[in-house]
Amino acid sequence: MKILGILASHQREGINAKLLAEVMKNVDSDCEQETIFLEDYEITPRKYPEENPVLDELSNKLMEADVWVFAAPTYWRELSGVLKNFFDCMRPKFVYFKENGDTIPGPFKNKHYLSLTSCYVSTTENFLTGVTDESFKTIDRVMSAAGVIKTGEIVLPGTFGMKEIPENKKKICAKYAKKISTKKRKDDSTLKRYIQLFFMIAVMALATMGIQLGISQFISMDNFWVNYLSFTIIFFVLLSCILHIVTFKKHRRR
Ligand SMILES: Cc1cc2nc3c(=O)[nH]c(=O)nc-3n(C[C@H](O)[C@H](O)[C@H](O)COP(=O)(O)O)c2cc1C
Repeated sequence: MKILGILASHQREGINAKLLAEVMKNVDSDCEQETIFLEDYEITPRKYPEENPVLDELSNKLMEADVWVFAAPTYWRELSGVLKNFFDCMRPKFVYFKENGDTIPGPFKNKHYLSLTSCYVSTTENFLTGVTDESFKTIDRVMSAAGVIKTGEIVLPGTFGMKEIPENKKKICAKYAKKISTKKRKDDSTLKRYIQLFFMIAVMALATMGIQLGISQFISMDNFWVNYLSFTIIFFVLLSCILHIVTFKKHRRR
């Protein structure tokens, strides 16, 4: 089991470096680990037919590792250019191209990743305006194309003048370090998602039938189509509300 830390900040010893170090130091001792600073590499796109040994070296490092930990600051409300450039240049290594130009996951399929980012704005402002959202979304988009599975994300807002990682974030780093230290199955969350879906449907069906019972005091539900239509409409409204709330909560980073 090997974990590769990838620092994509302008600063070798900045806040993202500390956040990444906090994760790496808590990784289980039986895991092999390595951290690279992307600015140490001259990362440029491969100009065919010329070779690009830097991309080959980085690709080998990615291949040797089971889990990648990306630490990239948020710049201009986006992913740092350092990591974006790395992703752009690595595209031919991340994906295979079909004849029509579509892509399918390449040789890194089913590896795992964890994303870290930080920003100056406060926790509240980040929660409300989602300053770091694009950073995570870009990483997720690229990793999804490469077939690499997400383990989690850590956000550190309010970094202006910050010298040390706050205790609560250190605990989160330690928690994720433990999580990435264990060997993963291909997609660990499929079963969990089906169980969640089952319970969501069970609770919503119960709520819908409860509401129908209330309505039946005023409108008769004896007719099959009235029963069916009212069930569908109530179920749909409840589902929309729950999905909206869950999506909002899930995508707000603190
Ligand atoms: C070019 C640049 C753009 C930035 N843009 C933003 C921004 O849009 N919003 C924000 O909250 N912080 C912004 N920041 C602040 C960084 O996100 C913050 O300094 C980060 O925590 C730095 O991490 P580091 O110490 O690893 O470099 C920016 C910093 C730089 C250098």
